[in-house]
Amino acid sequence: MDRMDYFIELYGTLPRAGPGDNALTRKAFEMMEGLPPRPRILDIGCGPGMQTVELLRLSGGTVVALDLLPQMIARVRRAAECAGVEDRLETVQIDMNDMAFESSTFDVIWSEGAIYFIGFEKGLAKVKDFVKPGGYVAVSEAVWLESNPPREAVDFWREYPEIGSVERKLDVLSGLGYESINHFVLPASSWTELYYNPLAKRVTENEQMWKGIPEAEAVLAEARKEISVFGKCSQYYSYAFFIMRR
Ligand SMILES: C[S@@+](CC[C@H](N)C(=O)[O-])C[C@H]1O[C@@H](n2cnc3c(N)ncnc32)[C@H](O)[C@@H]1O
Repeated sequence: MDRMDYFIELYGTLPRAGPGDNALTRKAFEMMEGLPPRPRILDIGCGPGMQTVELLRLSGGTVVALDLLPQMIARVRRAAECAGVEDRLETVQIDMNDMAFESSTFDVIWSEGAIYFIGFEKGLAKVKDFVKPGGYVAVSEAVWLESNPPREAVDFWREYPEIGSVERKLDVLSGLGYESINHFVLPASSWTELYYNPLAKRVTENEQMWKGIPEAEAVLAEARKEISVFGKCSQYYSYAFFIMRR
């Protein structure tokens, strides 16, 4: 097994693969007024699909769930089957960097904690053509909540230099020609309840079994670090949901 296998083993069974919960998905969804009765939605970086299923329930429409990993595509299918909404789910296993849809295909483009794999600005620029004029784009994205975060938080976020203030993100999306509809910061509980608490439990479960395997220990160490930095610095950063219109 290589490092990626251990990563998938550790993270692949969590209820979510990033911050969020159904109430926050609902809150963002309800900010999109005037949607057609059965909207067509693209969910980029769907992961285990908690928000995909919630979008299927809320919208009554179809959702195209896109993810790079076959394990995540399998999970979103299973989640939709358990909820009895699989008939309105389509899945696409591709790299989001290679996404190509016809112009004006979707009423809504959604991405929770995943657009950063392309980059916020580049990702929003890329999807603009796929959404219908007047359609919505809703993404959650890493933001600084304070202007002077401690060194530990700055070091942790060095691998995503595009993290910025909410105001900076709003400038970016309006610079791309989107109309900002609304935005809100995710509470710290949305990082812990369905993500870091289950992750910490998985770390403990695997510690003994993975002892002495360098690739596995590195994955565990990274997870511990991520949880610990958030525990100390959660008032300095979070995700924010941005709801915008083309
Ligand atoms: C942080 S998780 C968020 C998952 C889900 N939206 C959630 O909030 O639980 C990011 C997801 O993006 C997927 N991903 C990572 N890089 C990708 C890429 N280049 N193209 C498509 N999906 C990607 C990962 O497999 C993972 O499922």
